[in-house]
Amino acid sequence: MSTITATSAREHRVTVRSLCQRKRAGQKITMLTAYDFTFARIFDTAGIDVLLVGDSLGNVVQGQDTTLPVTLDEVVYHTRMVSRAARRALVISDMPFGSYQISPEEALRNAVHCVKEGGAHGVKLEGGTGAAAAISRIVGAEIPVMGHVGLTPQAIHRMGGHRVQGRTERSAQLVLEDARAVQEAGAFSVVLEGIPAPLAQEVTRALDIPTIGIGAGAGCDGQVLVMHDMLGLSDWTPSFVKQYANLGALAGQAARRFADDVANRKFPDDEHAYS
Ligand code: KIV
Repeated sequence: MSTITATSAREHRVTVRSLCQRKRAGQKITMLTAYDFTFARIFDTAGIDVLLVGDSLGNVVQGQDTTLPVTLDEVVYHTRMVSRAARRALVISDMPFGSYQISPEEALRNAVHCVKEGGAHGVKLEGGTGAAAAISRIVGAEIPVMGHVGLTPQAIHRMGGHRVQGRTERSAQLVLEDARAVQEAGAFSVVLEGIPAPLAQEVTRALDIPTIGIGAGAGCDGQVLVMHDMLGLSDWTPSFVKQYANLGALAGQAARRFADDVANRKFPDDEHAYS
């Protein structure tokens, strides 16, 4: 019996349709954040299904405390680099705070910007029942939308920090209602972030569209991680993150070896100079 690898279907472009078929077939979906051409090409070649240009770029690329200051132009700028690299993966732009809350018309205008200028195949936005009108307006213009419920970082001030959601019966009910509202509004999938694993499993069973979990246990249809967290490039990571490499330590060692070589006149040597 052959082992199914993430790269076994690399030749075909991932589509919103194929992701929904994956749920029906019981095949897991993989998503990673990406913010530039170099990493997007590595992840695309590795067979990652979805590249999310997350507004987490505010934290991991810009060094901000929250995602709130990220602008639409910044998301579009990073999406352009990622979509240039993605030959197989579906590219999703994360709509930043303020770009879809004001009115469904403005949400649509900004989603169009992500697709037209950024080259995204779809957009993601946070919120459940409150975001349903914006989702349905964007979907009505043929732009695929990924929802995002549970712990929604753009609501950090309402939540009082990055707190796990759905721990009480009432709060769990709200997460389920939000997820249903997102599906009914026409989203093709939904991120479940920071909720207890049994609740994520219940939501996943209740929905026809695929769920992509982050800090939501193993019962989701797919999983997403922020690339800096899983590659060991972040100073701190939440306990749900599995670190698959320690690129931060490797980069530090390389920089120190370079500095030593320069100080000790070992670099450049004859091999690395024009004669
Ligand atoms: O911005 C982001 O990276 C995200 C993921 C954590 C899902 O929204």
